[in-house]
Amino acid sequence: MGETILELKGIVKAFPGVLALGGIDFDLKSGEVHAICGENGAGKSTLMKVVCGVYPPDKGVIRVNGKEETFANPVEAYEKGVSIIFQETSLFEEMTVLDNMFLAHEITRKAGPLTVLDYAAMRQKAQDVFRRLAVDIDLNAIIKNLGMAQKQMVEIAKALTYEANIIIFDEPTASLTQREVDALFRIINQLKADGMGIVYISHRMEEIFQICDRVTVIRDGMYISTKDIQQTNKDELVADMVGRKVGNYYPKADTQIGDELLRVEHYYDEGFVSDVNFTLRKGEILGFAGLAGAGRTELMLSLCGHAKKAAGKVVLEGQEVHIRNYNDAMAHGIVYVSEDRGKYGLHVDMSVAHNITLPQLRNFRKGIFLSSKQEHDIGEQYISEVGIKAPSPEFMVKNLSGGNQQKVSVSKALAIKPKILVLDEPTRGVDVNAKSEIHKIISDLTLDGLTIIMVSSELPELLGMCDRIYVMKDGTIAKCFDRSEATQEKILSVALETAREEKEAAQ
Ligand SMILES: Nc1ncnc2c1ncn2[C@@H]1O[C@H](COP(=O)(O)OP(=O)(O)OP(=O)(O)O)[C@@H](O)[C@H]1O
Ligand SMILES: [Mg+2]
Repeated sequence: MGETILELKGIVKAFPGVLALGGIDFDLKSGEVHAICGENGAGKSTLMKVVCGVYPPDKGVIRVNGKEETFANPVEAYEKGVSIIFQETSLFEEMTVLDNMFLAHEITRKAGPLTVLDYAAMRQKAQDVFRRLAVDIDLNAIIKNLGMAQKQMVEIAKALTYEANIIIFDEPTASLTQREVDALFRIINQLKADGMGIVYISHRMEEIFQICDRVTVIRDGMYISTKDIQQTNKDELVADMVGRKVGNYYPKADTQIGDELLRVEHYYDEGFVSDVNFTLRKGEILGFAGLAGAGRTELMLSLCGHAKKAAGKVVLEGQEVHIRNYNDAMAHGIVYVSEDRGKYGLHVDMSVAHNITLPQLRNFRKGIFLSSKQEHDIGEQYISEVGIKAPSPEFMVKNLSGGNQQKVSVSKALAIKPKILVLDEPTRGVDVNAKSEIHKIISDLTLDGLTIIMVSSELPELLGMCDRIYVMKDGTIAKCFDRSEATQEKILSVALETAREEKEAAQ
């Protein structure tokens, strides 16, 4: 490891009603990957936004490559060698890859008396960067047509066009598949070997132990510890993050599993879902595993009122049902919680309480009226039960940290108290402690007679929580495992099978 290239001393940042950072120290060396860990709302994203000039610090010193700096905006930070890949991507969706990469620092040339954009030079530089990263992305592609992983590669490439020597990743792997994570790690290792310094924010402990050299923990905006990764372990890190030991990560209750509640037969939907057959029993937590793109989200959306052109049979409590839209699904007691909070989930410009109570208002629109007192009380109840870090139920959702927004999304579904709750990646971006709290709530719901479908890419979560696990691939169900026989290896081998067959066929 080389010299210190980023140094933070006593960083303080307050928002109205929230002390986000109460005096944080941090340092990054060249050639190292330094993790920042902490619970949802601890201040990780805010700290890095202060470094990059998104927010000015209230107090404290930022030293970059030996010089004291306060950047007015992220472009200025980029120019001084600091780039950030945000938790939510910041690319312009309607523009091309190339335009995004050189936005605000276009290469120009003289053409007679005029200064014009030098597309040839920009193209050349972009290609050089992509070659260095060993990734292949069409420079003319429009961003909105790219997948999450490709968007992230574009952001990394953009950082490299600035000759950054400090790159900050804020939860880069939350929406990536395993293969994409491997590609990202290969790139991070290469950047590290080139002498860059990397700040790595993640809730995934395995990743931190796989890729990082040191780890700094913050809790409630306060500095707690910095450790060499070799000299610590998961339990110790979690204890630093939470302030106490967390024993049982998957607190599954023993539930009495009842009769068949839902049966899906030969179910098809336009696009991707084909010949799906499964059953769901009352009180069960039923898991759906599979690689990204296996069709799990498509299937759940289709069954929960977002079908395109479905065919097949859906039998609920012995009666065949036809669910045509979201309200039909609600009327049958089926609620879907999206993996994509923005698209199907939350109204970020509204309060926490309003988001939680909104579906009930929609459901009981006729004649039922929720007073602001009732709304406040319901909000308060979930803030305390699910552990949402918000100063009040009236707090705007957009001002919550990423993981706390996810908790609002889950609360909203819990408040409806449906018959069947379909959770798609319920704990993505949620810290380890809050995760086990959400798991406990999910598990307790089954004691109250609720039935749960859980889609997750985290196998330990499925293995820890589910009574049975279906594995999907290529839009259909490949296999079902009982809790007693399911293992990570067995599930992966089923999920990966097609990928391997395809590869062999291609050779
Ligand atoms: N613009 C804002 N206005 C008011 N409060 C804010 C704003 N941005 C962040 N906060 C608050 O600052 C605190 C720290 O948030 P931050 O986003 O840094 O957390 P985090 O550690 O990144 O959490 P997560 O793991 O959930 O992403 C939270 O309490 C959050 O609600
Ligand atoms: Mg964050």
